[in-house]
Amino acid sequence: MQKIATVPEMRRLTREIRARGEKIALVPTMGALHPGHVALIEAAKKSGATVIVSIFANPLQFGPNEDFAGYPRTPDADLAICTEAQVDAVFAPAVEEIYPRGYSSYVTEDAYSKPLCGISRPTHFRGVTTIFAKLLNIVRPDAVFMGQKDIQQAAVVRKMIADLQFGVDVVVVPTVRDAEGLAHGVRSRALTNSQRQEATVIKQALVKAREMVDAGVRSTDRLVAEVTHIIGQRRRVRVIYVSIVDSTTMEAEREIVPGKSWLMIAVWVDEVRLIDNLPL
Ligand code: PAF
Repeated sequence: MQKIATVPEMRRLTREIRARGEKIALVPTMGALHPGHVALIEAAKKSGATVIVSIFANPLQFGPNEDFAGYPRTPDADLAICTEAQVDAVFAPAVEEIYPRGYSSYVTEDAYSKPLCGISRPTHFRGVTTIFAKLLNIVRPDAVFMGQKDIQQAAVVRKMIADLQFGVDVVVVPTVRDAEGLAHGVRSRALTNSQRQEATVIKQALVKAREMVDAGVRSTDRLVAEVTHIIGQRRRVRVIYVSIVDSTTMEAEREIVPGKSWLMIAVWVDEVRLIDNLPL
């Protein structure tokens, strides 16, 4: 497995890969790799492409009150995971390689990025679309692999790719959950055992939502009220949003359309922010 830190080296490698007639799959990450990332890598491997994992904690997608410095960094463990998963190359640039002094160009998507996490994290998706545009230009992959847990992020990136005609496929890989049903994520790893216990209420709410929709409930009001009620029973869990949206546009819906609507949840468990979702 090659480990690459600079943009010219990365461009050189991807030119070689393309010259061999191979396709390139990019798995963008911010490191602190967990089983959700491994599922992305496995899906990318299965596609038959040469797999590149980028590891870059992107300062631009953290708000002023969000702890960029405290974001977990586990470089040795990340490399071991990538080696084990037979990744072909890891691209792990330093911040100055991506945002040199005087950097001043940004990419924004102005519709799908506005609701949900866009309300409580108003600069987040601008950071995501900017780093994606850069990674797509540097690596020039045929496909990018993204997690379903971050479905709004995938929707925003897909829209940016379509609007700006990058010509890259976005593959969304199902959420990986632990034995208690908690979605794997960098932030959920920070939970203490008792917080983790509280957070299992998210999975309970998703299960209840599934049951209600399967039983014929189509009113988003009823579903949102029930999910909010279930989550509210835990003292240390506070709802940021519970919403039912169109899975492509992230626009709130009045009526549930099975196969099209998604239940979106964001909560605080004490000071840890978690998101989850469920296709209805
Ligand atoms: O989901 C993430 O880890 C990040 O938002 C991503 C996709 C790597 C972009 O920085």
